[in-house]
Amino acid sequence: MTLSRKEINAQLMEAHAHLFRCPNCAAGMEMFNSSALFCLNNHSFDLSKNGYVNLAPQAHVTKYDKSLFEARKTVMASGFFKPVLDFMTHRLAVRLGKGEQSVVLDAGCGEGTHLSSILSQLTGVTGVGIDLAKEGVAAASKMYPGTIWTVADLANCPFADEQFDAILNILSPANYAEFTRLLKPGKLIQKAVPESGYLKELRDIFYEGKEQKEDSNPVGRFAEHFDEVQTERITYCFELPKGLLAPLIRMTPLTWGTSPEKIEEVLRMDIPEITVDFTIISGVKRVE
Ligand SMILES: C[S@@+](CC[C@H](N)C(=O)[O-])C[C@H]1O[C@@H](n2cnc3c(N)ncnc32)[C@H](O)[C@@H]1O
Ligand SMILES: [Zn+2]
Repeated sequence: MTLSRKEINAQLMEAHAHLFRCPNCAAGMEMFNSSALFCLNNHSFDLSKNGYVNLAPQAHVTKYDKSLFEARKTVMASGFFKPVLDFMTHRLAVRLGKGEQSVVLDAGCGEGTHLSSILSQLTGVTGVGIDLAKEGVAAASKMYPGTIWTVADLANCPFADEQFDAILNILSPANYAEFTRLLKPGKLIQKAVPESGYLKELRDIFYEGKEQKEDSNPVGRFAEHFDEVQTERITYCFELPKGLLAPLIRMTPLTWGTSPEKIEEVLRMDIPEITVDFTIISGVKRVE
């Protein structure tokens, strides 16, 4: 018998119902009839057709829409982020310990490709991806059944304390109080932050030397919360196939606010290479 995506994900959520806590009242949750998560106070959340659950307290309209996530998926399929993901996967594999069952959270998972590609290289790991953008989570649940996909605010995560063996936070905002609450003591967190060279060819064109607002001290902020902090800068030039410029421009918030004419002009340009430049910050939750 072939199970549907919804059935696969319902079984997974049922087996991991202990991870969840109600976003309305913080009570524990259980799976009902393979179709909804509900809490002891009867707040109930249906699974979608493809098996994700929406645990965000209110609907959020974000600029991260369906076409942006489709563009991100296309760019990721080209191997654009591969060296970054390989590094993060390796560090995760070293920390997770062989033969143990672990649960890894991707906070701000977008359309799920990063988490899915990391999980495909590990064994015994259950993945949980959350994002506030419903379009991203919907795409993730459609493409990657077998991972728990949840619409949720990472500043108010619908999960119980100390359930996670690792947290990933890639190009997304962080909430370190929540991440600390969710991690088991001594367990790993990895954050990928863009550096000055990231997409610099596009920045040079779209910003024309104007100053951009960046978090000036992401490592310092991270180190206030976690121990054993390490950083690794990963920088490379990615050879850009012609067809990838359009999805690259579409996938990045860098171009929000740019006129369609300017985007058309850039699409006609010859941009043979794009710089990828990240720092991966990692640390572990303090053991009291
Ligand atoms: C630049 S995208 C990165 C997505 C994915 N990690 C990737 O690298 O493709 C930033 C993501 O953070 C998500 N995000 C922003 N604020 C959030 C919040 N408060 N809770 C959950 N997700 C959030 C956005 O919806 C978006 O998907
Ligand atoms: Zn409740």
